[in-house]
Amino acid sequence: MKVDLYEKIWMWASGAMLLAFFGSSAVMAFGGAIHPPSHVETIDPARVLTDPRFSRPGVSVDESGRVHARIVGLMFAWLPAELVVPASTPVTFHITATDVTHGFQIVRTNGQSMVIPGYVSQFTTRFTEPGEYLIVCNEYCGLGHHTMAGKLGVVPQVQWRAPGGERGNQ
Ligand code: CUA
Repeated sequence: MKVDLYEKIWMWASGAMLLAFFGSSAVMAFGGAIHPPSHVETIDPARVLTDPRFSRPGVSVDESGRVHARIVGLMFAWLPAELVVPASTPVTFHITATDVTHGFQIVRTNGQSMVIPGYVSQFTTRFTEPGEYLIVCNEYCGLGHHTMAGKLGVVPQVQWRAPGGERGNQ
């Protein structure tokens, strides 16, 4: 089959572009540990604050010593607005919304998830660098969208105290 030279150039160029796109996705997925969340858990959006999972939002430690952060997104705030977690420790985030779709993003980290009313988004990550991180809403949710921000403090493990007084034991 005779293929015109220009046709050949475009075929190879398209192939090279596909490889570059797949390659960059793979680099971010494996190198940057960026994955789409796959957890499916539902909740009644009208009863989030009385649901036992979110009646006391914030950081907690379960019986096996794992750290959890429970956060509620609503127009136009994250509840609670400030969290403190230990560095270099897996933290599992559970986030839901009461009203519209929000986007939970911890800037300069791979902690990010869409937050949809009726669902509990979940992801686990660890923060190696202690410091203060900005939490924003990256999904347009209304007139106050740009004011919907929070703060994540990451402190060295030895300085971190589990809320409630017990020491984090990881
Ligand atoms: Cu919440 Cu934008």
